[in-house]
Amino acid sequence: MLHVWGGTTLNYKETHNKAGHLVIGGCDVVKLASQWGTPLYVFDEEEVVNSVNTFRDALSSLPDYEIIYAGKALLTLGIARFMANLGLSLDVVSGGELYMALTAGFPPEKIYFHGNNKTAAELDTALEVGIGRIVVDNLYELEFLSDLARKKGRSADIMLRIMPGVEAHTHSYIQTGQLDSKFGISVANNQAVDAIKLAASLPRINLRGLHCHIGSQIFELASYAKTIDVMMAIMANAKAAGIMLPELDLGGGLGIKYITGDQPASTQEFGKFLAEALHSAAAKYELEMPKIMVEPGRSLVGAAGTTIYRVGSIKENKGGRTYAAVDGGMGDNPRVALYQARYHAVVANKMGQSPEKTYTIVGKYCESGDVLINNIQLPRLEPGDLLAVFCTGAYNYTMASNYNAIPRLPIVTVYRGSSDLVVEREQYQDLIRLHRIPERWLKDGV
Ligand code: LLP
Repeated sequence: MLHVWGGTTLNYKETHNKAGHLVIGGCDVVKLASQWGTPLYVFDEEEVVNSVNTFRDALSSLPDYEIIYAGKALLTLGIARFMANLGLSLDVVSGGELYMALTAGFPPEKIYFHGNNKTAAELDTALEVGIGRIVVDNLYELEFLSDLARKKGRSADIMLRIMPGVEAHTHSYIQTGQLDSKFGISVANNQAVDAIKLAASLPRINLRGLHCHIGSQIFELASYAKTIDVMMAIMANAKAAGIMLPELDLGGGLGIKYITGDQPASTQEFGKFLAEALHSAAAKYELEMPKIMVEPGRSLVGAAGTTIYRVGSIKENKGGRTYAAVDGGMGDNPRVALYQARYHAVVANKMGQSPEKTYTIVGKYCESGDVLINNIQLPRLEPGDLLAVFCTGAYNYTMASNYNAIPRLPIVTVYRGSSDLVVEREQYQDLIRLHRIPERWLKDGV
């Protein structure tokens, strides 16, 4: 069971200390909860470092490659800085993410700007700061960007996002490569090749390569081979038209193990598989191996996150389920309600005890769908116990909401026994910071 837990439990082969308390990053979780309060996101930085190193190893057989961290998985000022320190590039999808990255001192030339509807202001900033690559999603954006760059007297290094027509086996809400997706330029009816020709002809546009992303939380690798074949075929068509494309970005999507039954490919398998598929496609289409980019998000930070909750009400429905409610829920982890995501948890202060009862773990939000885990076997729970839900590092903090006016959680990073704040806990004052009462409503008799 160890392998489904957050990273540190794997690295130190130590899940708990003598007191029976869960340990993450060398920190006793019971102490973390009393120091920082609950609910709390814990970020295990050594786990991320290990994941990044594993990715580098896995891709090292490629002649040239770049790892671009997908910031949408988890981005704060501190995390942006941490990823920059690790030497990664960064994928941003909005002016807000770009602002965060630049404010953290992320080198602009290592930033890739994605998105299917970038605004003029966003593109303007990207050109202004000399962003690494703008990943252009559609023809409207392509011409618009060319115009904007001409007006500003700048050039844009771009990649074209292609919709390769491959359906990855994952939840339909996180599939993106299928034909008729909202993302990218379709391969159908020569649209991709026509777009490449247009891009190559437009002023102030330097077309560097192609981008694709077929989905997220993908377990089986076959869809990547299909995608590589489609993309390399397009590159060969471009070459035949005299347009050399030296870069191919394969997006992110590698899945992680949330629960015991999950069987994602490992990062090593992923790297080996990509290299083989790329070499055979390069041979088939008589192309030189392009520089390869990958954009992992979840597989770099997912397992590094653990959410610590305090258990409150415990309710046994006679003839039905036993519910244990925690002090967070769908506001800090909307993935269960959105994607039927499943998680594993332990009782952080009772690690020495065996599971003896089945619980459904729910949150404190006013929705029946506010369930974190359906039917999990745990030691007998009492109010005040601490529940640690594993693998919440990706798409939890970034997708959190203030539903029910519940403040968002802080993030602490743990490293070899010490913990530091990455994001402060939101306060009630923060919830109303932008609220205004129109003057007229303050007068009597409205
Ligand atoms: N590159 C592009 C262009 C993407 O759209 C994404 C994710 C990634 C890279 C990173 O994918 P990853 O390696 O993390 O799978 N909110 C959903 C996931 C949405 C993913 C959106 N795009 C979830 O919680 O499962």
